[in-house]
Amino acid sequence: MKIKETAKVLNQSKLAEGIFSLTIATTASEYAIPGQFINIFSKDASNLLPRPISICEIDKAAGTLRMVYRVVGKGTTEFSSLKAGDTAEIMGPLGNGFPLEGEKAIVVGGGIGVPPMLELAKQLPGSVTAVMGYRNDDLFLSEEFTDVASDLIIATDDGSVGVHGTVVDAMVENELEADVIYACGPKPMLRAVAQYAAEHNIKCYVSMEERMACGVGACLGCVCQSKDVDDHSHVHNKRVCKDGPVFLSTEVVL
Ligand SMILES: Cc1cc2nc3c(=O)[nH]c(=O)nc-3n(C[C@H](O)[C@H](O)[C@H](O)COP(=O)(O)OP(=O)(O)OC[C@H]3O[C@@H](n4cnc5c(N)ncnc54)[C@H](O)[C@@H]3O)c2cc1C
Ligand code: FES
Repeated sequence: MKIKETAKVLNQSKLAEGIFSLTIATTASEYAIPGQFINIFSKDASNLLPRPISICEIDKAAGTLRMVYRVVGKGTTEFSSLKAGDTAEIMGPLGNGFPLEGEKAIVVGGGIGVPPMLELAKQLPGSVTAVMGYRNDDLFLSEEFTDVASDLIIATDDGSVGVHGTVVDAMVENELEADVIYACGPKPMLRAVAQYAAEHNIKCYVSMEERMACGVGACLGCVCQSKDVDDHSHVHNKRVCKDGPVFLSTEVVL
């Protein structure tokens, strides 16, 4: 079930250069699952389209959702000035979310793909090895992963912390095995993780990102290429906002 409502901002803090953590009170928390996202609307009428941001943490008891986002343009710059007591128009939870499977899982996040893996790591039923990739030693959320994952492996582009290289370099170096892999991050990273999963015969879910308009499956503005013909569009397309953002790595063209 998705709702559109005026949510109250409870807290906003800066986690790293250009990275913000926003907690809102919303009834969307009642229905949200890891891997779903919400649309946040701008108060500036010239920013017509809402901005999709993944859910980083869900607190059903408190009725809150937490989002962690990078400031990149007009919308996210506006959101970064929100403070406790302000309101934000939101719609959500949107998308399908991650199925919670496996006795042994690897969760892989790259850059701004790290945040949605936090709630997933919390809710997975078995052991979780978290592999998180960052540009440098701005390791936002990494301490929180140490609380919820069985193991945390860090990879950095500049080699300042952990494995010098990509998340897949870290997976190879640590000879990681699991029943299931979950990944969110830039497409080249998803492609490499999916290849690692295929080579090791591990089921793999990827969370995709495309530019979005309606966010609810109506406009076909966010399609990605699928291996099979889609029931809805009758072509090799999947709507990231409604059929995804989570897909089996074997379902989509990466
Ligand atoms: C399912 C999903 C989950 C996401 N989760 C997160 C998250 O947890 N944290 C985070 O930092 N970012 C996330 N993003 C990316 C985020 O939506 C964009 O960074 C944001 O929309 C940029 O808006 P802007 O106005 O600041 O930038 P502008 O560049 O000014 O935006 C212009 C337009 O392009 C769209 N757009 C720009 N970049 C993206 C992008 N990468 N993906 C989709 N639309 C884009 C905007 O929504 C807007 O309509 C997610 C995107 C998707 C599709
Ligand atoms: S954004 Fe309209 S169908 Fe996905």
